[in-house]
Amino acid sequence: MATEAATAEMAAASLCDDLEPATTRTRIRDVLATGAARAGESVVVGGWVRTGREQGKGSFAFLELSDGSCAAALQVIVDAAVHPLARLTATGTSVLVEGVIKEPPQGTKQNVELKVSRVLEVGEVDAAAYPLPKGKVKIPLETLRDVVHLRSRTNTVGAELLAPLFMAFISCCAVLIYYYLILALRIGAVARIRHQLAFATHNFFHENGFLYVHTPIITTSDCEGAGEMFQVTTLLSQAEKTEKELKENPAPSESDVMAAKVLAQEKGDAVAQLKATKAGKQDIDAAVAELKRAKDNVSRLEERSKLKPGIPLRVDGTVAFENDFFKRQAFLTVSGQLQVETYACALSSVYTFGPTFRAENSHTSRHLAEFWMVEPEIAFANLQDDMNCAEKYVQYLCKWLLDHCREDMEFMVKNYDKSAIERLELVSSTPFVRISYTKAVELLMNVTAKKFENPVEWGIDLASEHERYLTEEIFKKPVIVYNYPKGIKAFYMRLNDDQKTVAAMDVLVPKVGELIGGSQREERFDVLKQRILDAGLPLEPYEWYLDLRRFGSVKHSGFGLGFERMILFATGMENIRDVIPFPRYPGRADL
Ligand code: 4AD
Ligand code: MG
Repeated sequence: MATEAATAEMAAASLCDDLEPATTRTRIRDVLATGAARAGESVVVGGWVRTGREQGKGSFAFLELSDGSCAAALQVIVDAAVHPLARLTATGTSVLVEGVIKEPPQGTKQNVELKVSRVLEVGEVDAAAYPLPKGKVKIPLETLRDVVHLRSRTNTVGAELLAPLFMAFISCCAVLIYYYLILALRIGAVARIRHQLAFATHNFFHENGFLYVHTPIITTSDCEGAGEMFQVTTLLSQAEKTEKELKENPAPSESDVMAAKVLAQEKGDAVAQLKATKAGKQDIDAAVAELKRAKDNVSRLEERSKLKPGIPLRVDGTVAFENDFFKRQAFLTVSGQLQVETYACALSSVYTFGPTFRAENSHTSRHLAEFWMVEPEIAFANLQDDMNCAEKYVQYLCKWLLDHCREDMEFMVKNYDKSAIERLELVSSTPFVRISYTKAVELLMNVTAKKFENPVEWGIDLASEHERYLTEEIFKKPVIVYNYPKGIKAFYMRLNDDQKTVAAMDVLVPKVGELIGGSQREERFDVLKQRILDAGLPLEPYEWYLDLRRFGSVKHSGFGLGFERMILFATGMENIRDVIPFPRYPGRADL
């Protein structure tokens, strides 16, 4: 269903009189935004009833209608003469109505309301079938993850779900599906913030001359070299299929194949015999056809005799990936960086933004098995340029939310994190602190006010508690830590002259810890090759990546921003599983 302007444009472009006319719907957000200025105008709105009540002894009804375009609902008034009221008032009923925008009586809290003239469509709810008491209950976010497909009906993607719906889930699956279809729509504030952040991301890079490059999801190289990749293979399903087939139709034995060969030989002899005796064409053709059938049978039996249950193995016992779909081992990508570098080394400023996958068995509130990453890559840029870009980008996102998402941010402040807006204001207007890893370790080693679970010494990978202490307690603002020990960072990061550290940088922010990881890339062929080998990685999958250094190598840098971590940071939500529509983590990939 399109919005007004788009629909009018589409209608003008194509007149299909063999189809129902298109629906011209005005979003509730737009009705509320223009308010009384549009009084008297007739519009069509659609949505789900949050609450409905009959008034005036059943002569009319008030409906609170929400279509997810904003957090607020529109008050809609329907007269009994227009539609049977009892069919409209149940929570969750979907309606498409036409009506006139009106200024409400003085003293009411709405700035505008809609007086319905026609009810165009209704998706009814049988209120009597509600098995449980009405009203709102707070349901823990963890519990809601079990009803992930219903979270979008809550205002935050979380805390508040109508009790009947949830209880229906527990009591009966069929009822659950029923309620799923009928419950009031409450598109989450988190979903709107997520959308705005994605939109702002594209805006930022577009405005700064970056090209959006779609990097592949399936890859054969491990970008981070950490071996945390999900494998993409058809070998398992193939093995299952073969096993099933062999059970139903066992593989031919050697003697079956031999017998078929003997038969084919006999058929061959028969053809030769007929030809030698100058038999008629018809007889020869028939014998040749029989010979062909016998030969085909031999080929088929030989092929089937090779079928073996299980995964195909090589003689040395390793898996024969040459029989796999891609003829080699393939994985879901952990990062689009390596591929996007190829574009940066030709088009100079590029970025990728897509799903990435990590098979780490992490059960923290900051890790997902599938998450989205924004990865810019800039040619002719060094580590400082990289930090500047990261800082400008994060500040842009914060400012964007303040300018475009006030209502939802206020909702987050009220319900989740009192300081969410303050944090955005601070970050959008304050330069980030920049300190070296060595300095950061020094600062952390001098901390006496807190005992860290993970001891601090030069060379360790900073744990979340260290990162958060730096940004939340010591500096109280975002901190960029740079020049990490080479031993804890990926092979592609540029080796510094000290030979001990690499030109890496992590952006740490309050609430989250690491939001961004990036680096200047190693552009020197020999050094990169050695770093791959030192990391214990095979060279072959990286030959194409090394080619970028063989031919016209260029200084370049980039970073990756964890998109869900940015949403955590912005909203103040506590768990990363609650800021992605369909979270994937160990033990959960359903729906
Ligand atoms: O630091 P990471 O591993 O960096 C890279 O992947 C680089 N190849 C990026 C680049 O330079 N183009 O990951 C980048 C960011 C982290 O800072 C973090 O915010 C997020 O991705 N991240 C995760 N987010 C959710 N769940 C996980 N399991 C994550 N792992 C990393
Ligand atoms: Mg990192």
